Amino acid sequence: MGIDPARLGGPIIGIASTWTGTMPCNLNQRELADRVSDGVSEAGGLALGFNTIAVSDNQSQGTPGMRASLISREVIADSIELMVHAHDFDGLVCVVGCDKTVPAALMALARVDKPAVLVYNGPMRAGRWREREVTIQDVWEAVGAEERGLMSRDELDELERFACPGAGTCAGHFTANTMAVAIDCLGIACVGDALVPADEHELKGEAAARAGVLAVHLVERGVTARRFLDRRALLNAMAGIAATGGSTNGVLHLLAIAHEARVPLTLEELTGIARRTPVIANLAPSGRWMAEDLHRAGGSRAVIRELVRGGHVDGEAPTVDGRTLGNATVDAPQPDGEVVYTLEEPFKPSGALHALRGNLAPEGSLVKVSGTTRRSHRGPARVFESEEACTDGVRAGLVAEGDVLVVRYEGPAGGPGMREMLSVTASVIGAGIGESVVLVTDGRFSGATRGLMVGHVAPEAARGGPLAVVQDGDVIAIDVDEGTLVVELDDRELAERFVGWQPPPPRYDIGVFARYRALVSSASNGAVLVPPA
Ligand code: FES
Repeated sequence: MGIDPARLGGPIIGIASTWTGTMPCNLNQRELADRVSDGVSEAGGLALGFNTIAVSDNQSQGTPGMRASLISREVIADSIELMVHAHDFDGLVCVVGCDKTVPAALMALARVDKPAVLVYNGPMRAGRWREREVTIQDVWEAVGAEERGLMSRDELDELERFACPGAGTCAGHFTANTMAVAIDCLGIACVGDALVPADEHELKGEAAARAGVLAVHLVERGVTARRFLDRRALLNAMAGIAATGGSTNGVLHLLAIAHEARVPLTLEELTGIARRTPVIANLAPSGRWMAEDLHRAGGSRAVIRELVRGGHVDGEAPTVDGRTLGNATVDAPQPDGEVVYTLEEPFKPSGALHALRGNLAPEGSLVKVSGTTRRSHRGPARVFESEEACTDGVRAGLVAEGDVLVVRYEGPAGGPGMREMLSVTASVIGAGIGESVVLVTDGRFSGATRGLMVGHVAPEAARGGPLAVVQDGDVIAIDVDEGTLVVELDDRELAERFVGWQPPPPRYDIGVFARYRALVSSASNGAVLVPPA
């Protein structure tokens, strides 16, 4: 391998890259991994790189391929865990980006508990189309508009060509950038480096090299990953997610990371933080600006500084460079009042993520009140057995105003893989009925989803959750302020409907999907894989 034997005495740092050439999200990670390697060498260590898979949600969205998305989180985590066990690295740098790669790396680090630093490869710029800023979210909503004849196919094709102008994670504050803020709040990355846009080659390269140096220093200091994945760190991350109007997936992933780190943490604890934390960043899809604008306004450092000042984030928490979170952000820019707000005059007084429980979700469900002012809804169920069936129903105009669209058998086991319903929600928005219908599903939502949409319903239908026996016309009531999700049926009626009920046969009986279905736990537990009892 051409390695000078003299270099084998220093720390050996594994560099896990989640690069794939199949999508823009992680496209710059190879260069960054090389720069990490430079940093490791500069600090006297030896870098050995390897790669994992990665799945782009926005290429698999609305297709059977989306079932691979959440499953890829487990495969990436397993890959990193196995490489660390096999090669016994002294430390690790994980280069991550697209949605699942960030929690996957954190889950692996929680398991192996080695000294480690994360490098986030950075957001993509927004595109420009016909004098306006556009992202992948506009493409999905344009698909809905095209289906309803509100936009021509040529216009849609043209928009698609301009919406994603280069390398980097999706430009809005969708799941990937939500997790970028989370890693800064955890302190497991150099605070402030994550949201530097992917095309800022010099700055990104410097940040990657810095991470390499730090990984060696962490090995020398004997500081391991769980130091940054304890309960305090995870609660800090939730505050950051809430304060920036982050994605529902952030909650799912924090629960999964907590499970791997053996930190007790519940859905209600996380959504409780969201309730108490003002939203102080005006970011798409809930607001106006993109991740690159947040970076320009001081990035997550400006947000964290405010959160520390208000006691929402514990500023005494450590970060990988040895400073506390408070010290690492004390000189961050003041809120500009446009992208980043003060706690006293926030963008919104409380977070958008809420847990709902009731006879339709005894183990809980998750709603993000995003891009809508509605807080409650009561209406008749329109039941669909899959995402495709629901999308077809919306496209065929079968959905009436006021309906509650129930999409079931899309949960972690039922899908399998807990698909995101972005194509459905975007079709609903594109069709102009986003403000009058609600979607309730045991699947997930994309970070780009907006409207009143309830996901993560647990237990899921395929595991005998009440969603399985809802029928067309049943009345479903959602109340965000009360935290309730109920179907207006009494316990006896629900029990009677389960007599003779069987889940549909599994879609896959061999391979990764079959294994995943057998082992995956509830969304209320982060949908992690657990060994059979
Ligand atoms: Fe990869 Fe959005 S699909 S970051």
